[in-house]
Amino acid sequence: MEATFHKPLRWLTSTAESRPPEATLIPQPVTQTALQGQTFTLQSSATVGVVTPSEAASSVADQFAARLRLSTGFPLPVQPGAGTITLSTDGPSSLGAEGYELRVDDSTVTITAATPEGLFRGVTTLRQLLPAKAEAATEQAGPWEIAGTTISDAPRYPYRGVMLDVSRHFFSVADVKRYIDLASLYKLNQLHLHLSDDQGWRIQVDSWPELTKYAAGSEVGGGPGGHFTKADFAEIVMYAAERFMTVVPEIDTPGHTNAALASYAELNADGEATPLYTGTEVGFSSLTVDKDLTYEFLDDVFREVAEQTPGDVIHLGGDEAHSTPHSDYLTFVPKAAELVVKHGKRVMGWHEIADADLPAGSIVQYWGTDDDRAQALARKGVTQGAEVVMSPANRAYLDMKYDQDTPYGLDWAGLISVEKSYSWDPATLIPELPESAVIGVEAPLWTETLDNMATVEFMVFPRLPGVAELGWSPASALEWSTYKDRLAEQGSRWEVLGVNFYRAPEIDWR
Ligand code: ACM
Repeated sequence: MEATFHKPLRWLTSTAESRPPEATLIPQPVTQTALQGQTFTLQSSATVGVVTPSEAASSVADQFAARLRLSTGFPLPVQPGAGTITLSTDGPSSLGAEGYELRVDDSTVTITAATPEGLFRGVTTLRQLLPAKAEAATEQAGPWEIAGTTISDAPRYPYRGVMLDVSRHFFSVADVKRYIDLASLYKLNQLHLHLSDDQGWRIQVDSWPELTKYAAGSEVGGGPGGHFTKADFAEIVMYAAERFMTVVPEIDTPGHTNAALASYAELNADGEATPLYTGTEVGFSSLTVDKDLTYEFLDDVFREVAEQTPGDVIHLGGDEAHSTPHSDYLTFVPKAAELVVKHGKRVMGWHEIADADLPAGSIVQYWGTDDDRAQALARKGVTQGAEVVMSPANRAYLDMKYDQDTPYGLDWAGLISVEKSYSWDPATLIPELPESAVIGVEAPLWTETLDNMATVEFMVFPRLPGVAELGWSPASALEWSTYKDRLAEQGSRWEVLGVNFYRAPEIDWR
């Protein structure tokens, strides 16, 4: 199987050379230089040109122009060839698939990349260079000025994710699209959806229909739940793809499976269906490891999930299997993993899976809290050839409270201030883990205490941009004292976008 995630571009480690005083970008680009004395002003006559247009490159230009038409009221036609703002895929392949160069001078803006994805990342930067009011959905007064600058940029890591738990509480397609929109502003490229757990099953599986007929109808606290039909899921996958974000679907096994065990009596060791569960305990459910039906079930589920997923990863969970005997767990994980591979996908799982034999190309997601056991499991995964995504719970978990007064969220992994969530290095957090094994970062959001987008946004912002920067920017650019000033600037964008962010007292909001 082809590996999706290529080696990080290690040679791109120079820091911002001459950071303009008004630097506001998150993530910090690899290099940014001011073009002294030059200022671009977007006029009503401006055009958006696409050089070497492909469908994907034109779509990037169309999305950008459509957004700016709302706020500027300008016509901004998209046309082949050079324009006032030019997007070109004739750029250097040396910057990789996501890299881009951006130049803003007195009269033009040019973004060059080797791929439409690189253009999209460059356009994301351009959006942040424009005044915050450019994000508005209604016409605003200009001027629309950008200080002259040149930027050359590419990500440190290929995997930069955010997770949404739609099982503990269900979130609609519209909610997930908003989550994608807000995450893609910070160049995140993986959307991990936690689709099944004890409290609810959220994705249609035709061969096991009771999962959604029955176990989609519950959630924490006894709310109505819900699920994504195949059409819904396809809509999410496409919306994400248009924003160059890949959906990573998670079916949590062998624990966190009460929704399945409640839907099908025959999956249980004693042949009796469990009751639906709307509480928040963990670790009480387990698939039956020595039943053939368990693997027939997973074969069907992984097949149908794989069919709905263009990305090449399926996440099989593997966490907190406290009621699965450990010897059973070690039997289960390789069998479940083999089924993921059978359906053409790479295995991803929480770090516990590394205690079992893993197939080639697996990805271990570290969610430890600086504890030796979790770190040892991440290293054990690497000795088996796995790659590691870093989601340390005491830093990257977005559902942990900021401080003891935070009205939502949990605190089992500690309180996580904005500074704490930013101030770590994915390459060196786990002692003796080879740096080359780390393919990126992910910020998970568990939703036991979150049942609407206002509370989701409150926990996600302002911490998510920091994790995004850890995934994108060179290690040499990571500095809290300058980051917090750039973060302060983002507040005005969130106000325009109607984001319910937490005005953390650590930040000098403008
Ligand atoms: C987890 O937080 N149980 C992965």
